[in-house]
Amino acid sequence: MTTKLEAPAQEPRNVVGGGTASLAGVSRAFGAVRALDGLDLDVGAGEIVAVVGPSGCGKTTLLELVCGLQAPDAGSVRADPAVLMPQRDNLLPWLRAIDNAALAVRLAGASRDEARARAHPLFAAFGLEGFERARPHELSGGMRQRVAFLRTLLPGRPLLLLDEPFGGLDSLTRSSMQRWLADALTQEPRTVLLVTHDVEEAAFLADRIAVLSPRPGRVVAEIPVQLPRPRDVTSPEFGELKRSVLEALGL
Ligand SMILES: Nc1ncnc2c1ncn2[C@@H]1O[C@H](COP(=O)(O)OP(=O)(O)OP(=O)(O)O)[C@@H](O)[C@H]1O
Ligand SMILES: [Mg+2]
Repeated sequence: MTTKLEAPAQEPRNVVGGGTASLAGVSRAFGAVRALDGLDLDVGAGEIVAVVGPSGCGKTTLLELVCGLQAPDAGSVRADPAVLMPQRDNLLPWLRAIDNAALAVRLAGASRDEARARAHPLFAAFGLEGFERARPHELSGGMRQRVAFLRTLLPGRPLLLLDEPFGGLDSLTRSSMQRWLADALTQEPRTVLLVTHDVEEAAFLADRIAVLSPRPGRVVAEIPVQLPRPRDVTSPEFGELKRSVLEALGL
């Protein structure tokens, strides 16, 4: 896949139908465990916002609030229709890759043939051509993630919520998947809220990085990323950006 990301981060993207989210004073507890407390975060149409924070600080909870799987105990959450790519790929082992990719389209009422017809052209674009009929156990970890991502894109929701999309991958596969995601978002622009533990991933992909405190999570820093794309991870500016994120994390 060729890299087409040449525009600076500030340039507005060509986004499908909005895709904004706004959280104000959001708190959420599970019994005595306070996951989030007074969290404020706005995501504009076409923005890629990365959320980084220590394990257990409420990142998954935040994404589930944005897509309506959970409701806040206090504060307000407003968001355009969103689709969540969960922390694990959750492919159904008995379905072929193409039927896994087309699952959400199928559940929305399309016939199997219609759903497959919508998924099929994207297999080539995502480097999965020839694997349409493979079952998940016949795919590599990176390929499974791409099928899961394809399934996330297909319903055409303007707001993508990605929870540690590459967390389970080795570092070589992860960095090639990060490049692949940057390309995919150029071809299929969306608003993205990306949860990650990986500061380099956040710096490579995001327009803005929101840093959360340890639990109860709230936003303690928002760091804009103005480096041109494609980003040079070896540049001093990139190193400087990573340092400021680590500092905001208290590391
Ligand atoms: N359904 C639930 N029932 C009880 N406690 C929960 C539930 N969901 C989350 N929690 C608790 O809320 C806190 C935040 O969980 P969450 O999964 O949002 O963290 P996270 O930042 O995504 O962590 P990680 O980086 O490890 O994925 C944790 O202490 C967790 O135990
Ligand atoms: Mg999580």
